[in-house]
Amino acid sequence: MQKFEKEHIAKVREVAPECAILLKSNGDFPLDAAGKIALFGSGARRTIKGGTGSGDVNVRAYTTVEQGLENAGFEVVSKAWLDAYEEHMTKTRKEWITAMKAEAAAAGINGIMYCMGKVMPETAYEFSLESDADIAIYVLARNSGEGADRTMVAGDINLTETEIRDILALQKQYDKFLLVLNVGGMVDLTPVNTVENILLLGQLGTPTGDVLADLVLGKSYPSGKLAMTWAPIAEYPSTEGFGDPDDTYYREGIYVGYRYFDTVGKEVTYPFGYGLSYTTFAVETKDIVADEKQVTVTAQVINTGKCAGKEVVQVYASLPEGDLDQPYQKLVGYAKTKEVAAGESTEVSVTFATQILASFSEKDSAYIMEAGEYVIRLGSHSRDTMVAGILTLDDKAVLKKTKHICEGWGFDDLVPEKVAFNPDGEEEQKEAVKHIALSAAKFETVTYTYPEVAAEIPEGQTFDFAEVLSGKKTLEEFVAGLSDKQLAYLAIGNYKDVPEGAGVESVIGAAGSHVAGAAGESTSRLEDLGVGGLYMADGPAGLRLATSYKIVDGEVKGNANAFANFMEFMGEEELEMMASMVPKPSEAELAAPENYQYCIAIPIGTALAQAWNDDVAEICGDMVGQEMEMFGVHLWLAPAQNIQRSPLCGRNFEYYSEEPIVSGRTSAAVTRGVQKHPGCGVTIKHFACNNQETNRFLSNSVVSERALREIYLKGFEICVRSAKPEAIMSSYNLVNGEHTCNSKDIQTHVLRNEWGHEGIVMTDWFVTGGMGNGAEHRDNKYETGSAAGCVKAGNNITMPGGSSDLADILDALTNKEHAYALTKAELQQNAMTVLKEVIKLRK
Ligand code: BGC
Repeated sequence: MQKFEKEHIAKVREVAPECAILLKSNGDFPLDAAGKIALFGSGARRTIKGGTGSGDVNVRAYTTVEQGLENAGFEVVSKAWLDAYEEHMTKTRKEWITAMKAEAAAAGINGIMYCMGKVMPETAYEFSLESDADIAIYVLARNSGEGADRTMVAGDINLTETEIRDILALQKQYDKFLLVLNVGGMVDLTPVNTVENILLLGQLGTPTGDVLADLVLGKSYPSGKLAMTWAPIAEYPSTEGFGDPDDTYYREGIYVGYRYFDTVGKEVTYPFGYGLSYTTFAVETKDIVADEKQVTVTAQVINTGKCAGKEVVQVYASLPEGDLDQPYQKLVGYAKTKEVAAGESTEVSVTFATQILASFSEKDSAYIMEAGEYVIRLGSHSRDTMVAGILTLDDKAVLKKTKHICEGWGFDDLVPEKVAFNPDGEEEQKEAVKHIALSAAKFETVTYTYPEVAAEIPEGQTFDFAEVLSGKKTLEEFVAGLSDKQLAYLAIGNYKDVPEGAGVESVIGAAGSHVAGAAGESTSRLEDLGVGGLYMADGPAGLRLATSYKIVDGEVKGNANAFANFMEFMGEEELEMMASMVPKPSEAELAAPENYQYCIAIPIGTALAQAWNDDVAEICGDMVGQEMEMFGVHLWLAPAQNIQRSPLCGRNFEYYSEEPIVSGRTSAAVTRGVQKHPGCGVTIKHFACNNQETNRFLSNSVVSERALREIYLKGFEICVRSAKPEAIMSSYNLVNGEHTCNSKDIQTHVLRNEWGHEGIVMTDWFVTGGMGNGAEHRDNKYETGSAAGCVKAGNNITMPGGSSDLADILDALTNKEHAYALTKAELQQNAMTVLKEVIKLRK
């Protein structure tokens, strides 16, 4: 193991307890010392460090729960159970794969596309739970990944009869019992609600098992809080209509997650922001100061328990309802305390821009604040708040005037029936707190402008890029000397030229020839002019590279790890086809020595957000940045920050939260961590509304402008404005009938004109077709995206790129009938943006 691996693993082990959430506790845990322990459950030996797909990080090894407990000195006395489960799983999984392959064949779909992201639901079995230990731990695991959504069946969102039976038996049978959730998202725990100790460990990367052992022994303590509401799946308004392959209607509008549950007063299993600790805290308001620019709420946090801990102070606001309906409350700010010793107290201030209180009015095409009372609440989760102050605005304030975007959703958003959710003592609290007057006249109004594309640069001389780098010539002069084809190449990823029928132009997961296992590169077709490519590797749970590679003629040949996960789903014919797609290794390649490289896995996105601590996110970003520098990666294809609209989304584990502020702040902190490293940038993704995996290349998210701006774009906005990510990845899906990569509203009007993004935008992989993305197997309502449409929209690079993208762009330059007819000026402007990024990151 290399020094950096050891250091990074130790760092993750140190910060990851902040991501773990204690959901229930009777005080039996932590334990005083290691001893005999009975260990059960799907995640005990088959612990999941993070989900599947491009978000899976290829590590040297990681610690399972069984190993972690043994490392810590526990004697695991339930080996017979663990062995029996292992044997059972090996057998049932084989059967399941055979069944999946048969289903794929019957549907006429290739095995990879059919099975990608599908996870075998837990099955039935019965093994003895007896042992001579007094303490038992049951680790319930769930996995998911891109390409498939989660399902409402037992063994995925729901627990199986076997799991319920065993968990309830253990609760009775052992003196002390802990249920550990090794999951990337919600599971419905209703049937086991009598269990007294539940820890949401999550999936914490390389040291997952060691982190659990530390928590169990009290060497660390959990201080995470849920960033998504947990409720029975049927209760989420997004469940109805979820996963329609053509159109998914976001009828609930802004009522996502707790904004819905708190408004309609529905009981939930665990509220948004919830999480216990080994100790207890009291949170009280000390002061509130506010003006038209900024609000600061100061809280006193007292550790009322018996050991050290950290608490998250959360500030919510209830907005006045005028023209616009409003949720009961929305989060406006939060801060985590430093460690507070038992009996000690600390002061924490939460500061936020007053503008956060604005809402988007479609009627005014503006962000506005309506006149009335803004009730500011302080507490430790969404169902536990006290009134901290009241801001009274005298008149309507118009803060930002915009153009309309993404029109044509065609329905009115849900306005739920509000059930008075009046926490005890609300009226008395309102009277007791400070009332602060705000004046609408004192707010500034910003009016955005949406400039046209700059004029065409007249043709000029061709010269080496070095002259631009040395400052002798301008970028404009360089672009003036580029041919249409060269300009078009800059708008496409670095695909290989292969004779027709002789293979594929890009192999996902092995498309980079400079960094082994990189997912792609920007073009190096202008290398003769001195323009190098940008090398891109996946995340978000660390840096995804190939673990072994060879160097042949100066080119890197990585092993195709990306396929390793999916090989088992392929039939013989497919395996043969795959082999024919990947060029046969040359003599030189066969003879070349194998090299090895390993990155470390950090906690999955959902877990990182649960820390509610920007420092933890930044530390993890910093480690990724160090590894990027070391391995020569320019752009990390992460953080992933789509809103967790429904627990059913198969990629939620990569994402942060149902709440845009938590999502935006976490992503901004990770971005700062990565981008402190020179030559390293992030690619925040998938912009936007990639909230389901079913038919992900061609599914249309139908969503109102208000919900778009207040919920689905907001987190991206926070990251772009505050942390300036170098790159953005547009999403596969369409929004209101147009692919996001082809939407000028999203990629230029909002992203650049309103938020000031100066870096690049790239597509998600193969959005313009080319991989056999599964779409051809049904009669789809929508078509694939267009590479020319990308240039027109301000989506600078189509990834991973192919000859059909080149043809599309060149056609759009001359063909006035093309749906996205292009001018040379547009292509030049696109090239300028790409080249600026090349200069910045390859310096
Ligand atoms: C995923 C992206 C990923 C890309 C490159 C796509 O299938 O949706 O998140 O970055 O592949 O591997």
